[in-house]
Amino acid sequence: MKKNYRIAVLPGDGIGPEIMQEAVKVLQLVGEREGVTFTCEEGRIGGIAIDTDGTPLPEATVKLAKQADAVLLGAVGGPKWDQNPGHLRPETGLLGIRKELGLFANIRPATMHSSLVEASTLKPEVVSGVDLIVVRELTGGIYFGEKKRYDGPNGEVAEDLCIYNEAEIERIIRVGFEIARKRKKRLVSVDKANVLESSRLWRKVAERVATDYPDVELSHQLVDSCAMQLVRAPKQFDVIVTENMFGDILSDQAAMLTGSIGMLASASLAAGSFGLYEPVHGSAPDIAGKGIANPLATILSVAMMLRLSLDMDEAAAAVENAVWSVLEAGHRTGDIARDPSKAIGTVEMGQLVRDELSKQWQPK
Ligand code: IPM
Ligand code: MG
Repeated sequence: MKKNYRIAVLPGDGIGPEIMQEAVKVLQLVGEREGVTFTCEEGRIGGIAIDTDGTPLPEATVKLAKQADAVLLGAVGGPKWDQNPGHLRPETGLLGIRKELGLFANIRPATMHSSLVEASTLKPEVVSGVDLIVVRELTGGIYFGEKKRYDGPNGEVAEDLCIYNEAEIERIIRVGFEIARKRKKRLVSVDKANVLESSRLWRKVAERVATDYPDVELSHQLVDSCAMQLVRAPKQFDVIVTENMFGDILSDQAAMLTGSIGMLASASLAAGSFGLYEPVHGSAPDIAGKGIANPLATILSVAMMLRLSLDMDEAAAAVENAVWSVLEAGHRTGDIARDPSKAIGTVEMGQLVRDELSKQWQPK
């Protein structure tokens, strides 16, 4: 194991800086305990970068990220930039960094923690025990295909090309199989093969790759049917693999099964161990600066980073256990509180997690 890691920290907009502060403090505590130095270097992305550098993804940020061992990202976006043209939107920074860093595999776990069952809008018997992962292709498809806008005989015309090649499909399908192999050995590949040519290629490649994973059971679902099954009987799912746009939609839906999007972490991985880690939730401009945002998704993203990019499995589990203990003790930020009058703030929640971590590490 290395003793010094460089982490690019990109807090972004809205609640990004507040939640990131708590996550970095957790990371530093892990470093002290494990005798590892995390050199955290901050960069700008999103709206803040538009305001300061005139672009949502400055060169300096790309360089910083490329030199790092892993990237931690807060959130981007806000009403201030909503009317901007495409190239000056915060989201363009996020799409840009995914492409620049080759982050083709987006891993979005949706796990229902037993102490949060009441947070879901669905019946407890439907959602308790949900534990699934959406593996989303992140650098291809309709997001990155050619876009056009022109005048036609019936008014303006807009085009977004959905394009995939076999290599792009194969590498993400393999990620799906690898993850499924370590879990329940069931992989659902989601497409729209009854309509889309790109989906028919997707399915063909999935079938071919499946021959390398005889121990994993592959099935196919059409995306509309999958959306339905996700709310009807979510426990049938273990690992879902799908293309960029379907994954965007299904991962939000899967996240809401747990009722607490403020709890969910995600990883965006390149080939090898490099990755970018971020909470699934957005920049929540309505509560920014109030000190009430839930830092747990970002703290859990730190745990994912420790496990997937830095090969520090034990430390990752310790961080996760600390988060679960704090929840079991009944502490809640406003987004997951049953009684909002008892909700605690961002800094307080971060401190509780760190206290719990220190406690876990005390000699018994
Ligand atoms: C996500 C977000 C982004 C996406 C937006 C902000 C561009 O919704 O990470 O899921 O669509 O990929
Ligand atoms: Mg999304």
